[in-house]
Amino acid sequence: MRKILITGSLGQIGTELVKALSAKFGADNVIASDIRERNNAFPENQYEQLDVMDYEKFEKIVIDNNVGEIYHLAALLSATAEKHPLMGWDLNTKTLIFILELAKAGKIDKIFWPSSIAVFGRGAHKMMTGQEDVRNPLTMYGVAKMAGENLCEYYFTKFGVDVRSIRYPGLISHSAPAGGGTTDYAVEIFHHALDKNAYTSYIDKHTYMPMLYMDDAIAGTLKLMYTEVDKVSVRTSYNLGCMSFNPEELAAAIQRVRPDFQISYAPDFRQQIAESWPHSIDDTVARKDWGWQPQFTLNRMVEDMLMHLSSRSELA
Ligand code: NAD
Ligand code: SER
Repeated sequence: MRKILITGSLGQIGTELVKALSAKFGADNVIASDIRERNNAFPENQYEQLDVMDYEKFEKIVIDNNVGEIYHLAALLSATAEKHPLMGWDLNTKTLIFILELAKAGKIDKIFWPSSIAVFGRGAHKMMTGQEDVRNPLTMYGVAKMAGENLCEYYFTKFGVDVRSIRYPGLISHSAPAGGGTTDYAVEIFHHALDKNAYTSYIDKHTYMPMLYMDDAIAGTLKLMYTEVDKVSVRTSYNLGCMSFNPEELAAAIQRVRPDFQISYAPDFRQQIAESWPHSIDDTVARKDWGWQPQFTLNRMVEDMLMHLSSRSELA
């Protein structure tokens, strides 16, 4: 088989996705890459250090390794992109165009590119935001994701490029630290609960955002990527829903397991970003097209996170 390349592999999603793809297709067929130096998540012979804005090196890796599929995860997330908007635009859109052009030229066969709930903003329904709801993003991150979605649909419609995409909600995982997003409070809170039994949330107690556990996110991503082509009716990006909670409810779920855990609130600039996003997502189309079906509830996710993180700190 042609190989699979993952960019941004040392991040939250990549750390888990590389493992899942290696289990499915064999580690020899999967190349992990990131701008950062390799860490112990991946063996040396599976890793290429790559800045995705270095197009010459990027193309050389693709050609030399007979890469057929790219999962393009390298990006600046919402809070970081709001601090560095031009960098956010360049990294999050121009590198996607480069990869779409590789596919158009027949150098690769298939692309996965993640979008986000950040495409929604002013005018969209807050509750059960629909697949085709109004997309007026209020952040540079959302603007770039929306442009990316339109680019994916354009390259599919005009040139037949097989690019597939999911609008991930906030993702929660125990494998890698969260990297500059607005929903990251829902990851940080677990680390602080175990280290200090207390957390100060930069998101206000009553602010709802849609969330998804990483196990479900990875399962959904693989399901979309390897579903029959005629089932993929959406070529912008699929809404994916699962759970929706606010910081107060997440803290209460943690207190079920750790009754002494304390939460306090000090909202910062990320509060405004969070308020521009949906509270919950309608994912009917993904369920109908390719059988999206998340497994985790809030309480199950909390138990799993605390179990994994505490067994890791016991080993350290
Ligand atoms: P992350 O920040 O954890 O990881 C991104 C990785 O990209 C990092 O390891 C970083 O070192 C790498 N990177 C940054 N600049 C690079 C460059 N120039 N070249 C190569 N690598 C570079 O992010 P993540 O949570 O894994 O998200 C991956 C993708 O999924 C992004 O496109 C993000 O927008 C999208 N997404 C994530 C979430 C979420 O909640 N985590 C939600 C919606 C969408
Ligand atoms: N979880 C992401 C962020 O907060 C949304 O795409 O940036």
